[in-house]
Amino acid sequence: MSDQATEKDRWSSKTYTSSASFVPKLTNKVLSFLPAPGTSSFNILDIGCGDGVLTSKLLTLYPDANIIGLDSSPSMIETATQNYPKISFQIQDCTDLLAAIKNAAPDLATESYDIIFSNAAMHWILREKSCRSEFFAAMNALLKTNGLFVFEMGGWGNIAELHTALVAALVAHGIPVSEGREASPWFFPSDRWMEEMLQSVGFAVEELELELRPTRLDERRGEDGGVGGWVRLMGQHFLEKVEEKKRESVVQYVEELLNDVVKREEDEEGEWVGYVRLRGKGRKL
Ligand SMILES: C[S@@+](CC[C@H](N)C(=O)[O-])C[C@H]1O[C@@H](n2cnc3c(N)ncnc32)[C@H](O)[C@@H]1O
Repeated sequence: MSDQATEKDRWSSKTYTSSASFVPKLTNKVLSFLPAPGTSSFNILDIGCGDGVLTSKLLTLYPDANIIGLDSSPSMIETATQNYPKISFQIQDCTDLLAAIKNAAPDLATESYDIIFSNAAMHWILREKSCRSEFFAAMNALLKTNGLFVFEMGGWGNIAELHTALVAALVAHGIPVSEGREASPWFFPSDRWMEEMLQSVGFAVEELELELRPTRLDERRGEDGGVGGWVRLMGQHFLEKVEEKKRESVVQYVEELLNDVVKREEDEEGEWVGYVRLRGKGRKL
């Protein structure tokens, strides 16, 4: 596998556990798109596997499966490898898997997987328009005929309030709005976009849904919790637009802007944001 350690690693498995542990937990729906649990010896690939918490759940569902997890973050892969020795985790940037397939990267042979799974990673991977159709072509190429591609990611309208507040906070700190927008590391496609893309590379679309899922951020206040903790972990591409000493001021500006938006009368401590999930299942024709 290619080693992408030269690309700055903005992920820390420790911060992920404390600021965003809800991500791998809220996954019952996407897991229900998978085949019934059992002893099939599936070959499974987990794209953007992170710290391996969810990948290990796949092993619980299919104890005889051969599971490979790929992620571009050395920190995430290190933690996953330590915690789940029965799964093979590898550092791999998934933006150009077609090239990795062509270069005969180990474990990336065409027609070798029964299931490709991905949770909460594709909106990062697909940021650049130029890599999108190749990414889906690679998913198709890696699967055996009839193989399943099951995924969940941010969909159109995801975290609109946080996204807007981050750009606004940068503008308030002297960054032009166009630069603030370009700092965004995400692509949140609509269900229609996804359906057309999946079909265009050779999938039959068996499930596809866009769901507004208000999500309570982890409640610990201070460094790791709430809106501030979320912004420090997930909003780093925006924060890096200003010099280091101003970054905390940007975080506080976002917290101030969103103070009323994220509150619920009945939940004084909680901070709720509008997650929109796009989840689907495609079968390779
Ligand atoms: C929100 S985490 C999700 C992790 C895990 N799938 C889960 O559900 O807990 C997003 C993951 O996507 C990974 N990621 C982002 N861009 C990537 C890329 N270009 N290639 C591979 N992984 C990437 C990050 O390193 C991070 O671990």
